Amino acid sequence: MSQHALKTSTSELESEVSRRRTFAIISHPDAGKTTLTEKLLLYAGAVDLAGAVRARKNQQHATADWMELEQQRGISITTAALQFDCRGYRINLLDTPGHQDFSEDTYRTLMVTDSAVMVLDSAKGIEPQTHKLFQVCRLRRTPILTFINKLDRPGRDPLSLLDQIEQELRIGPVPMNWPIGNGPTFKGVYDISKQQVLLFGRTNHGQHRAPVQVHDLYDSVLIDLLGHAEHKQLVEEIELLDAAGASFNLEQFLAGNITPVFFGSAINNFGLDPFLQALLDLAPAPGPRVSSRGMVEPTREEFTGQIFKIQANMDPQHRDRVAFMRVYSGRFEKDMQLYHSRLQKKVRMTRAYRFFAREREIVEEAFPGDVVGLANPGLFNIGDTLCSGQLIKFDDIPRFAPEHFCILHNQQISKYKQFNKGIEQLVEEGAIQVLFFTDSLRKEPVLAAVGELQFDVVVARLDSEYGVATSIERLPFTCARWALCSPEKQAGIVWPSRSKLARDREGRLVALFSSDWEVNFCLEKNPGLTLQELG
Ligand code: G4P
Repeated sequence: MSQHALKTSTSELESEVSRRRTFAIISHPDAGKTTLTEKLLLYAGAVDLAGAVRARKNQQHATADWMELEQQRGISITTAALQFDCRGYRINLLDTPGHQDFSEDTYRTLMVTDSAVMVLDSAKGIEPQTHKLFQVCRLRRTPILTFINKLDRPGRDPLSLLDQIEQELRIGPVPMNWPIGNGPTFKGVYDISKQQVLLFGRTNHGQHRAPVQVHDLYDSVLIDLLGHAEHKQLVEEIELLDAAGASFNLEQFLAGNITPVFFGSAINNFGLDPFLQALLDLAPAPGPRVSSRGMVEPTREEFTGQIFKIQANMDPQHRDRVAFMRVYSGRFEKDMQLYHSRLQKKVRMTRAYRFFAREREIVEEAFPGDVVGLANPGLFNIGDTLCSGQLIKFDDIPRFAPEHFCILHNQQISKYKQFNKGIEQLVEEGAIQVLFFTDSLRKEPVLAAVGELQFDVVVARLDSEYGVATSIERLPFTCARWALCSPEKQAGIVWPSRSKLARDREGRLVALFSSDWEVNFCLEKNPGLTLQELG
């Protein structure tokens, strides 16, 4: 390659990286994640009418995510990411299933995102699932923007919400705007840095952008509009905020120490435009990643990427498994040969796709921040690294310890091949793990999952995708531990009477317990035994 060509491609790579924004939205169910997503699409110009994402909400599994958008032009839809362009930026909104039983999928996605938006319901503040997801972001110090939603309903006092964020999440909340009115009197927001008042008008079902009037704080028209009492209250609140002096600092935000806070109403499109603009301005472009060879910069010429999600049977026509890869550095090109770090072999990227609902389109190129779907004939595991040039490995994507267990009964023994194939492929997706009791001759699989609903999904998918009828028998265990001790000592171990032993697919001994008390009892009784959390 000539020196000139190299330079051009480096600067192209730099500019593609700098215009990428890859983020996920985290929230407790019902706080408004789906509505906010929909409204971000509306304000980004990616859809003409809000309402398209709604249908996905009640779906139990990510399979059909974003399907409703299939008619919309210019949006690339996968079950892993939603890609659209906005004001010169390319946005990858990573999908995070809302229900807590699917949170393992969400946790993994949060490992590959560059920033996150935390949505809170103004009446409820921080809820249990917000807490959990926030802590996962914290692990990587992911920068978080906060959107306090549903200001059109009577909610908690804004200052007490900020206080709760600070006290419970231990992150500094910095209000970027301030709500004017609350509940039925919510009219708009005061933009703190621009020192402007934005008053929004309602539209039919919030399907269109809300009309906005911009005023100076001391504008006489504004005083007339708000009335003296409300205007006085607003001025006092702003003076109070000024005195509190919590100003935004980009470095602190990028380090995950502070979160800029925005108030609004996603359903009415109040405060959406300033929030979208802030997201583009503040959310970081793809940054460096820790690897076995130190930091990998996104602008590094050699390609690197990591598999973070696997989904079987996305397309009933093709019946294949798709592994979703987040691009970390370099440029992905169709047909390129990449090194599979775990298998230590080269793989040609012939079947790399971007999904448009049921349709799939070959990906010609992709850049850091993007998500590419690779048809996966059992080649990839979650966490695998792909790279060109120097061999590199990224940190594993952590697994979360299962808390629910059941026996899966195959009701159609003649279909044992489909049954085994189904289990194998669903295990590969990472939502369940399989164990086998050591004392059972029938070798029926014991499923272990982080969320109980996963079992229902397994039964439904085995039926619809593999044609096998199954049923589940719940087990009373709540935790599983790998039992590590020398083989000679194994026979002498005293197990609590209600615990049970199993082996995982690699043949490792796993003990199932009904409580932490049993785990501690077992450790006390058996010096020399190590019990390691299954993850
Ligand atoms: P989620 O994805 O976080 O679970 O939340 P989702 O957006 O589905 O919103 C949950 C409920 O809250 C929905 O009502 C939605 O319309 C409502 N909602 C979202 N944003 C706002 C807001 O800014 N103000 C108000 N008042 N409500 C909001 P639903 O009754 O469950 O569904 P639907 O009948 O409205 O579709």
